[in-house]
Amino acid sequence: MSANPSPKSSSSQVQLPTDQELVLKVIPMPGDCNANGDIFGGWVMAQVDLAGSVVPARYAGGRMATVAVNEFIFKQPVRVGDILSFFSKLTRIGRTSITVKVEVYAEQFRTQGNYIKVTEASLTYVAIDENGQPREVPKPGV
Ligand SMILES: CC(C)(COP(=O)(O)OP(=O)(O)OC[C@H]1O[C@@H](n2cnc3c(N)ncnc32)[C@H](O)[C@@H]1OP(=O)(O)O)[C@@H](O)C(=O)NCCC(=O)NCCS
Repeated sequence: MSANPSPKSSSSQVQLPTDQELVLKVIPMPGDCNANGDIFGGWVMAQVDLAGSVVPARYAGGRMATVAVNEFIFKQPVRVGDILSFFSKLTRIGRTSITVKVEVYAEQFRTQGNYIKVTEASLTYVAIDENGQPREVPKPGV
């Protein structure tokens, strides 16, 4: 992930999703770079984990833990100062687990409104009890 500014080609520009919810916006700073001065992929993964937890938290009814990153694709580099928008939607509710899709879109700080998709991921969260053991996700209305 390069920190060097580069023009983003219009061919990679996309529309924001209309079937997902905006759950987080954040701007990476120089402190989020690795030793080479590039944005650290682990920083992006941490933000995606946080963003992904927002929708499951509505259903879990308490404590939960990330059990799996099923898929994680870095499609385009993230630059220092980009505005990142994290969109998410529910893809599956199991007995004790909840799976979501997360997509991350970047826009340049000075030319806002032109988005590229930089990351997409699928994560699974498990509802856990006070002992850290899986517990059933409450049924709606129960
Ligand atoms: C989360 C945790 C309590 C689950 O315990 P477990 O004994 O693996 O639980 P189970 O095998 O009963 O699986 C629980 C649910 O997770 C799902 N699951 C387990 N492993 C999975 C995997 N690799 N991928 C997707 N889903 C998975 C199961 O399908 C099940 O879902 P369901 O009840 O909806 O069918 C345990 O693995 C744990 O504590 N992990 C560490 C969590 C953590 O620290 N996360 C932060 C990491 S930095």
